[in-house]
Amino acid sequence: HRTAALIVAAGSGTRAGGGVPKQFAAVAGRPLVAHAFAALAGHVDELVVVIGPGQSALARSALGADVRLVEGGPTRRGSVANGLAALSADVERVLVHDAARPFLSPAVIARVLAALDDHDGATPVLAVADTLVRGDALLGEAVPRAGLYRVQTPQGFRVNVLRAAHAGWPADEEATDDAQMVRRLGGRVALVQGDAMLDKITYPDDFAAAEARVAWESR
Ligand code: CTP
Ligand code: MG
Repeated sequence: HRTAALIVAAGSGTRAGGGVPKQFAAVAGRPLVAHAFAALAGHVDELVVVIGPGQSALARSALGADVRLVEGGPTRRGSVANGLAALSADVERVLVHDAARPFLSPAVIARVLAALDDHDGATPVLAVADTLVRGDALLGEAVPRAGLYRVQTPQGFRVNVLRAAHAGWPADEEATDDAQMVRRLGGRVALVQGDAMLDKITYPDDFAAAEARVAWESR
């Protein structure tokens, strides 16, 4: 199977703040997007990075002059769609990965790709460990956590299925991942074991937590 990867790195990183969008900020001495890129290179036949307008100089300094860049859209969904449009015609499977998840292991990539042999898609997930409540800031009612998972990336798909899901999605509806789009079409998306190291950098404190994790892993 010819396999491609799309790294979506076109967000503005509003919640993380900082001088540059978070995907270009460093953890362990390298920009987040460079970690993600290095993790996927060598596991796929084609690698495309989707970036925001005006960010090609930042991206080339993080990833090298030869990197394949595509301009994203105003939403993650739009950025994935632009990346899909740029893939070679003979690509059969695609991994869609958030640049904001820098620490992607070969084991996770292997689990996602293996599940594509008999599913339309696959996503890494982690079981919810904390007790959950549904409520406002003051009052809540317990929600049983059995059977609930946190969803990560890279999410893998048969490329035709993902293209169809994007083509049929309502223009005015947001989607925070691709698996939910494929499921709505009736696609079967396998849940495979994720990795705590894959948690997304979202808020300013997540950078310090990621640094601490790296230091712990390399102790
Ligand atoms: N992303 C993208 N294009 C967008 C929005 C998001 O490629 N228009 C990417 C981000 O760069 C990130 C991933 O999708 O790698 C997950 O999105 P998120 O964590 O929400 O990042 P941002 O949208 O950049 O952050 P925020 O929502 O805080 O602004
Ligand atoms: Mg966002």
